[in-house]
Amino acid sequence: MAYPFQITSVEQYKEYYKKSIESPELFWDEIARNFHWKKKWETVLEWNFTEPRVRWFEGAKLNITENCIDRHLETAAQRTAIIWEPNDPSEAVRLITYDDLHKNVCTAARMLKNLGVNKGDRVCIYMGMVPELVFTVLACARIGAIHSVIFGGFSAQSIADRIQDAQATFFITCDGAFRGEKTIPLKSIADEALTLTDSVKKVIVFRRTNSQIEMKAGRDVWWHEAMNEAEQQLSAEGSISFPAEEMDAEDPLFILYTSGSTGKPKGVVHTCGGYMVWTTFTFVNVFQYNPGDIHFCTADIGWITGHSYIVYGPLCAGATVLMFEGIPTWPDAGRLWDIVQKHRVNILYTAPTAIRSLMTFGTSPFQEKDLSSLKVLGSVGEPINEEAWHWFSEHAGNNQCPLADTWWQTETGGIMISNLAGITPSRPAWATLPLPGVQPVLVDENGNEVITPDENGYLKGNLCIKAPWPGILRTTWGDHERCRKNYFATYKNLYFTGDGAWKDAEGNYRITGRVDDVLNVSGHRIGTAEVENAINQHPAIVESAVVGFPHDIKGQGIYAFVVREPQSVSSRPDEDATRNEIVQTVARIIGPIAKPDKIQFVSGLPKTRSGKIMRRILRKIAEGDTSNLGDTTTLLDPSVVDEIKKGRL
Ligand code: WTA
Repeated sequence: MAYPFQITSVEQYKEYYKKSIESPELFWDEIARNFHWKKKWETVLEWNFTEPRVRWFEGAKLNITENCIDRHLETAAQRTAIIWEPNDPSEAVRLITYDDLHKNVCTAARMLKNLGVNKGDRVCIYMGMVPELVFTVLACARIGAIHSVIFGGFSAQSIADRIQDAQATFFITCDGAFRGEKTIPLKSIADEALTLTDSVKKVIVFRRTNSQIEMKAGRDVWWHEAMNEAEQQLSAEGSISFPAEEMDAEDPLFILYTSGSTGKPKGVVHTCGGYMVWTTFTFVNVFQYNPGDIHFCTADIGWITGHSYIVYGPLCAGATVLMFEGIPTWPDAGRLWDIVQKHRVNILYTAPTAIRSLMTFGTSPFQEKDLSSLKVLGSVGEPINEEAWHWFSEHAGNNQCPLADTWWQTETGGIMISNLAGITPSRPAWATLPLPGVQPVLVDENGNEVITPDENGYLKGNLCIKAPWPGILRTTWGDHERCRKNYFATYKNLYFTGDGAWKDAEGNYRITGRVDDVLNVSGHRIGTAEVENAINQHPAIVESAVVGFPHDIKGQGIYAFVVREPQSVSSRPDEDATRNEIVQTVARIIGPIAKPDKIQFVSGLPKTRSGKIMRRILRKIAEGDTSNLGDTTTLLDPSVVDEIKKGRL
């Protein structure tokens, strides 16, 4: 047993689970003792879901970076913390030991301080997948600044909205990012975003692609210059460390924006103490991590999976993580397997969309690849279909590796429902059992617990959680009421996930997907209202309605029903040109990840007499299931449905 809180048998899982539900305070008190705190907590948990107010480890003081870095230095300073694999396989790999990580994070912390960043300031980070991104994230945590990482696929407008909402005063980026054969011009996109907002005082630019960029005098500084200066200062002071700010357990650690059913992304806030305990506990147990194992999570750090299972969870556990700059299919479809072979990867954690896209290349990319180092596979981000599950198990895992199907969300901070690799049984397409501390419940539309199984013996309903776990979101930045309304008001005294699920007689859960107006496109969360707002910005568009449809690789594709201005219909007969413009508009306002796959022009949308769009009907049409559209008699103009059905793409 490598960690004191590592679950090593089904019996132990049951014991842990029972205790975590019956005496959560005692349970988490014992787990949390395994971390480094500057001061111990006074209470383990205080909560109510009405405000909501959740406080874990109140009174405790800590700095999460001392847990991620400093405490490993005594015994494991020379252990590799990060193996960095560049986009271009001919470029050199970088190996960063815990000692190097310490040095870089301390220097970066000093640099941020030099530039005026203080505890509580919001720092936006918009970088590619380079080790400096991890240094920056941890440097913020070290000085108590709140980081808000923005995925490299977002547009200038989306970045500006996030800067504005958080009132960020510092912005850290790269000249560009390599992704496959593309170079993403991060700095130019950032420059455009910064013309739309005015809170940012300083911009730090890390040079990665050597792209031509503009540096704005007085605002922009080069990372290498500022780091050099900080390094010299530290060495002149004879110091090898930079002091870690003493944080309250409930001080915010970061903000991460995510989509919901309204038009505007929400800034989910996680705090220092509970998030640390939750990500580490779940990392060790779900993946059954043992020191020395190489953990490869293919997510981008711009998403919660990267925050929790590349940065915080693994590093707190003293793990070795593989960080990959590129994409799994470049320079060819065998890249992921090349990486596994080259670095003797033990744990591979990826997304169903990546698996499905690799499936289209068949099995030839596996030829002559030695994947025998793999011990554990993981999946996250969307429901994994049985075919992809079996394919991944067979071809990557040689049918020897347990596959953990991990269900969780940005808001939950870490994994909530999953089999524990090799310990509790796996089952294709089922996330299976809740982690200790997680109390799921399925409810009907009225919030009543579903207690009657269907003919297959399954309970089916909306997935809620009854009580807080340490990694639960605490608020949405700047707007607590929004947090309450979104997650805690739909059903009384329950956290509502937005997902539907089934439960079998043994207590296993299968997640069936979102039941709200949120799409999951290639594992990216996108609100239908956000896409509609973006489409409606096009001058020729009156209104639009966006729904998802099943997509072989992306899981869900985006289907837009669009009503044009009558004038534009007659003056612009070329529908494809308008479609193209709409796609470009969405890419400009949200980012390329939200581009609609299908755009159908319609003369009107199916609305009720009170003006509400009947999405149920549009969803069925988009899915190609038009035989039974349900009751359409409440529609203002039922004839519009026939027209839409006929024009289906
Ligand atoms: C979906 C990603 C089924 C779900 C960590 C959830 C899943 C949303 C799974 C959160 C899974 C994530 N099985 N569905 N194993 N994992 N989801 O915030 O709909 O980007 O609500 O967090 O992804 O997406 P988010």
